[in-house]
Amino acid sequence: MIILNFKRRMEKQENTAVITGSSTGIGFETALLLARSGFHTYATMRDTNKRKIIEKIANKENLPLEVLCLNVDNYQSVKKAIQKILDKSKQIDILVNNAGYGLFGALEDISIGAIKKQFETNLFGAVRTIKEILPIMRKQRNGIIINVSSISGIVGFPAQSVYVSTKFALEGLSEAISYELEQYGIKVILIEPGVINTNFAPNITLPNPINNKSQQTMLIDQKPAINYPNNDTKKGNFSYYSSTVDTFLSHYYPAMKNAPLPQEVAAVILESIKNATNSSECLFRYIVGEDAKTFSETKKNMSISQLHKFISKRLLS
Ligand SMILES: NC(=O)c1ccc[n+]([C@@H]2O[C@H](COP(=O)([O-])OP(=O)(O)OC[C@H]3O[C@@H](n4cnc5c(N)ncnc54)[C@H](OP(=O)(O)O)[C@@H]3O)[C@@H](O)[C@H]2O)c1
Repeated sequence: MIILNFKRRMEKQENTAVITGSSTGIGFETALLLARSGFHTYATMRDTNKRKIIEKIANKENLPLEVLCLNVDNYQSVKKAIQKILDKSKQIDILVNNAGYGLFGALEDISIGAIKKQFETNLFGAVRTIKEILPIMRKQRNGIIINVSSISGIVGFPAQSVYVSTKFALEGLSEAISYELEQYGIKVILIEPGVINTNFAPNITLPNPINNKSQQTMLIDQKPAINYPNNDTKKGNFSYYSSTVDTFLSHYYPAMKNAPLPQEVAAVILESIKNATNSSECLFRYIVGEDAKTFSETKKNMSISQLHKFISKRLLS
C-alpha cells in the first residue's frame, strides 16, 4: 500500500484516485493497479454497461474500487461524477486523465467536425476534469494530475496530424499549469507511451477507411474502425493521400502485435505517483516502450531534417 506524504494523511484517510476511460486498456489496468495498491479508486467510464469485468475482478480481490459514469466530452457528466466522489470521499488525491482515442488520416481528408470531436475528447476532456478537480486539490494543498499523452505528443508522425495536435496541446498545457499549481502542492505528470496493445488501434477512426487497404486487411480479426460520414474534402472514396496513409498503417498495425501490454503503462503510472510523492519536483515525464524511447531520443539528437528523413524511412517506405 502506498501512503502518500500528504499532510491530511495524518488523519489516516484513504488516498483517493480518479481515472477516466477505465472500461478498457490503460485506464482499466491503472484503476485495478491503484486499487490493489490501496487507493480508494474511482474507475470512471462513459458507458457503465462495460463495468462488469472490472467489478468482477474488484469484488473477487476485495479491492477498494467503485465504477462511476463519466463522459469527458460532457461537462455535466464530469461535474456530477466529481461531486459524487467528493461527497463520498471528501478528497481527491490523484487524477489520471486517460480517456482518449485516435483520429488518424490525412488532414485534407478529415472534416472540421471530426477534428473538433477529437479535441473535445483528448484535450478538452482532460481540461474539463482538471478544472473541476483543481478547486478541490487547491484547497487540500496537494494532489497529483497525471495526463496520459503519447509519443505522438513529442513527435509529429505522418497520418496522425490531428491526434498529434491533441497530444502536443496536452503536453503544453501540462507544462504550463505546473508553474501555476506548484504553489498549491499540486504536481503534474505526463505519461508518453509508444504503441501499446489495447483497443486503441482497432478503435482508430479514419476519414475514409474504404480507401485504406492496410486497415481493411490488417484489422480483419478486429473490430472495424468507426467511419466518419461527414467528410468535408473527400470526393467519393478518393483520397490524394491514400498511399501515404496506407504505408503508415502497414507499419503501425503490425507493431501492435509485439507492443507492450497496458499493464506496463499502469506500472509506470504507479511508479510516477511514488516518485512525485517523494520528490519536490513539480513536473515529471515518463516515456513507455522501446519505440517511444527511440523516437524521443532521435528527436533530441537529430536536426529537424534528419528527423524527417528518419521517420520517412521508417514509417513511409
Ligand atoms: N494504445 C496505444 O498505442 C496508446 C499510445 C499512446 C497513448 N495512448 C493513450 O492512452 C489513452 C488510453 O488509450 P488505450 O490505449 O487504453 O485505448 P482504449 O483501450 O481504446 O481505451 C480508451 C478509453 O477511453 C475511453 N473514452 C473514449 N472517449 C471517452 C469519453 N468521451 N469519455 C470517457 N471515456 C472515453 C474509452 O471508453 P469506451 O470503452 O466507452 O470507448 C476507453 O475506456 C488514450 O488517451 C490514448 O491516446 C494509447
